[in-house]
Amino acid sequence: MFTQDELKQNVARAAVQYVLPFLKPDTILGVGTGSTVDMFIDALAVHKDRFQGAVSSSERSSARMKALGISVFDLNQVESMPLYVDGADEVDHDLCMIKGGGGALTREKIVASVADRFICIADESKLVNTLGRFPLPVEVVPMAREAVARRLIRLDGRPGLREGFITDNGCEILDVSGLIIDAPAELEQTINNIPGVVSCGLFALSGADIVLLSTQKGVRQIDRLQVGDLES
Ligand code: A5P
Repeated sequence: MFTQDELKQNVARAAVQYVLPFLKPDTILGVGTGSTVDMFIDALAVHKDRFQGAVSSSERSSARMKALGISVFDLNQVESMPLYVDGADEVDHDLCMIKGGGGALTREKIVASVADRFICIADESKLVNTLGRFPLPVEVVPMAREAVARRLIRLDGRPGLREGFITDNGCEILDVSGLIIDAPAELEQTINNIPGVVSCGLFALSGADIVLLSTQKGVRQIDRLQVGDLES
């Protein structure tokens, strides 16, 4: 039996194998945040001379990459990226995700939006039928915290302030439990439209393109196109 850490390690290594063919001297990769991504960064660093560098979704990942000799670029310097690699707190069978357990959701959404393809790396404990067991992180402008919380309660959520946590953008996070998210894209849009919300941790309007899922039997690749094929 692999432990959860070993599963994360396996998928981190598989993700490096996945990205290798994309690495050219002018390639810039998008790199997310979290413990699985930390392992990905460590494994990627071995190949740091094969590509130009990375745009990161957090100060934490930027610091780790710089320490390992991977050049980190500001997103404003970069027009395109072939891939964005990041973890997830939950992923469903349509490749919609809940993210933001590490608090980096807004920058994750921004960097992902510039990349051609979102590669989600996760262990099998993250795969769910319905999103929502993991409390949904919502980043808010501090002065709007209570107003946003009241609106989230009207959506049947139970928002709780992430105590002592300030995001890289100087904002706060409400973790919203109790939501049964059977229409993720609609809910994402509704929450995004609440004044004071910076972004919400639902990645459904634009989900993952590929999930590399670490299981006891090996790393499984789930492709958005295959999902479509199965449904049609
Ligand atoms: C960071 O804000 C999150 O979106 C992470 O991608 C997510 O929490 C996954 O983290 P782990 O790889 O640590 O489980």
